[in-house]
Order: sequence, then structure tokens, then C-alpha cells
Amino acid sequence: MPLPYVLLSAAVSLDGFLDDTGPERLLLSGPADFDRVDEVRAAADAILIGAGTIRADNPRLLVNSAERRAARIAEGRPEYPLKVAVSGTGELDPAAHFWHTGGDRLLLTTDRGAARARELGVAADIVTLGEELEWRAVLEYLHDARGVRRLMVEGGGTVHTQLLLQELADEIQLVLAPLFVGDPAAPRLFGPGAYQRGRLRLLETRRIEDVVLMRYVPTAPGTGRGAANAADRHWLALACELAARCPPSRTAFSVGAVVVAADGTELARGYSREGGDPVVHAEEAALAKTDPADPRLATATVYSSLEPCAHRSSRPVPCARLVLDAGVRRVVTAWREPDTFVTAADGSGVLAAGGADVVVLAEYAGRAKAPNGHLLG
Ligand SMILES: NC(=O)c1ccc[n+]([C@@H]2O[C@H](COP(=O)([O-])OP(=O)(O)OC[C@H]3O[C@@H](n4cnc5c(N)ncnc54)[C@H](OP(=O)(O)O)[C@@H]3O)[C@@H](O)[C@H]2O)c1
Repeated sequence: MPLPYVLLSAAVSLDGFLDDTGPERLLLSGPADFDRVDEVRAAADAILIGAGTIRADNPRLLVNSAERRAARIAEGRPEYPLKVAVSGTGELDPAAHFWHTGGDRLLLTTDRGAARARELGVAADIVTLGEELEWRAVLEYLHDARGVRRLMVEGGGTVHTQLLLQELADEIQLVLAPLFVGDPAAPRLFGPGAYQRGRLRLLETRRIEDVVLMRYVPTAPGTGRGAANAADRHWLALACELAARCPPSRTAFSVGAVVVAADGTELARGYSREGGDPVVHAEEAALAKTDPADPRLATATVYSSLEPCAHRSSRPVPCARLVLDAGVRRVVTAWREPDTFVTAADGSGVLAAGGADVVVLAEYAGRAKAPNGHLLG
């Protein structure tokens, strides 16, 4: 199921705290960074916070710049992003600023929480997602029912921790502020848990007055054939970008492929007809750059914009077999091979019969097909 792009945004002290335990909200950054946050908000379709942040900070979560609001309207978007609060209990102050400022407000909650929030008179569209609040259901609802494509999450720590642990966060925008809190009772950005393996990728650092913004994206592939994680989507998007680099052909598809170790290390990438070889396929080009003795291949994932081929006339071994022979047992692809050159080529079937998990993320099919439009009629 397609999900919104989920951006976690927070500021922390040097010792990793989101706030202190005093009654007032601790201001961790300054005017220039608040203005940057305003810009990020203006680019979002929705901004989400947990009920704990409403209770602790009583925030408004507005786009403060009149120019940015005007630009949103000019683009045909609502003046303010949708404001979304999540609560299990529904124990919310109906007088909180959140419910009385900005544009549309949505409370996503449980059956029990909805009853309580209605009883309290919370001024929002109150939607229950069942007995429990599952994050994937929250994101699917926002995507499908509310048209949210870009979701900014502004905390607090409980919400950030769950989204990261469930590998649903596409990006972290973290501001490090030069002060200490030093109180173990204060809220931390990320709590304990089984986080993704390996290192995240640093996209950017930016000095803003005396704070530093760091932007990270997750890299470690998901596992099995179940729901894809955020890193799976990033890598498949890269494979689709590589497909767009292929020298054009009237007799073969343009495909991109990336081989990624379980800890998120990129092992190799390739694309069709790379390096002047007129018949090389993307997976073949990428796998040729790996060391066949590399033990990481056994737990690696191959991302391919088009499913690996099951039959080919140009070389003796099709790519589905090359993937299996390399020891790889997980493939994420955007698009099943159409009958353009081979009838009923079932590369995914070959992979599955060989013990590999195949995940098809059809929401990327448009990007995978884009460089192949001339072959598809
Ligand atoms: N520095 C920053 O950038 C920043 C940003 C935001 C917040 N903060 C700080 O973070 C602190 C608040 O963080 P927090 O961790 O206490 O609260 P939080 O993450 O804002 O909210 C937690 C609450 O959200 C609801 N919730 C979250 N996940 C849920 C789930 N899966 N199912 C049902 N309900 C769920 C629950 O509400 P119910 O209790 O109603 O069930 C839960 O108690 C405050 O001190 C605030 O100042 C700092």
C-alpha cells in the first residue's frame, strides 16, 4: 500500500533531550531555525503530533509566514496543512490551541478514545481506527482518505520512537542545540528498542545560528516478503533513477538495479547497457561488481525497477537465476515484466521457486515504466 513520505522533525539538547521537566516548553533553537521549520511545515500536506505534546506544550502548529500560506493557496492547496493528533485515550484538553487555530484538524484515535474525545467536546474531525492505533493504518488512512503525500511529524519522543522502530520514517530532520538538560526525567527523542541495523545515510548538515541541522535517511532493507520499509522505498526509487540513465533501445527494457547489504551498505549498482555493453541487464551489471565470496550477499536485497528476467536470448543465464546463484534471497521490484519481448516471463516465479522473497511495490511502476514508454505503446 502506498504511504506518505514521513519526515520526523525534532530539536534536541546535546545530551539528547527534547525538553526539560519545567512547566514551560524548552526553546532549543532560535528564530532562524523556527523559520526553517515554518518552511518545512509549509511544504507538508499534514503535520502530526502525539497527545503528549499537546498536553506538554499546547502548540498551535501553524505556518506563520503569510507569504508561504499565500504560496500554498496559489498552488491550489489549503492555506494550512492538515493538523493531525494521535491519542489512544482521547484524554485531551478541548481548549488546547491545537483545536482552535489553523486549518482542518483531525484526531486519529481508538474506539475508546473517540468516545472520550467526543464527550470532552474536542473540536476536530474524530476518526477511530479500531481498538488499537496501528501506525501503518494511520499512514494508510492519511494517504488514502486524506490525500496526504508528505507528512511532517513534530513529536514527541513516543511518536518518533514508534515510527522509527517500525521502519516507517523516510527521513529524520534533527537539530542539535548547544545546551544540556541533564534531568533523567526529561523526555528523550528516541527511547530504547530494536532499531534498524547499520548506519543511516547523512543527506545534509546545515549550521543555523548556533544549532546544527542534520538530515538522515534510513538505509537498512526490510526483511521477508511482508510490507516494505522506508529504506526499501528509497532504494527502489534509486533503481528507477538508474533506469532513466540507460542508453535507449528498441529491443530491450531500460532497467536500474541496486544490491544492498542487510545493514544498509550499498554493495553495487547497475543499469541496462551500462559501460557500452549493448546487451547487459541491470541486475547482471550490478552483480558483476560484487565479490561472489562476499558473505553479505546471502542476506542482501536486490532492488530492480523491473522484475529480473526469466528468459533471455542475449545471454545464457537469465537475471532471476543470476540473483539466486549469487545467493541473494530477497528482491524488491516495481514492475512485473510485460509480454513485450517474452510471453509470460515470470521472473518473480523463478525467484520464489528458488527460495527468494519477492516484494512488488506497484506504486513505483510509473517511475519504472517512464524510460520504457516507447516500448509500451
Ligand atoms: N524538541 C522538540 O523538537 C519537541 C517536539 C515535540 C515534542 N517535544 C516534547 O516531547 C514531549 C512529549 O513527548 P511524549 O513522548 O510524552 O508524547 P508524544 O509522543 O507527543 O505523545 C504520546 C501520546 O500520543 C499517543 N500515542 C502515541 N502513539 C500511540 C499509539 N500507537 N496508539 C495510541 N496512542 C498513541 C498517546 O496518547 P494518549 O496518552 O492520549 O493515549 C501517547 O501518550 C514534550 O515534553 C514536548 O515538549 C519536543
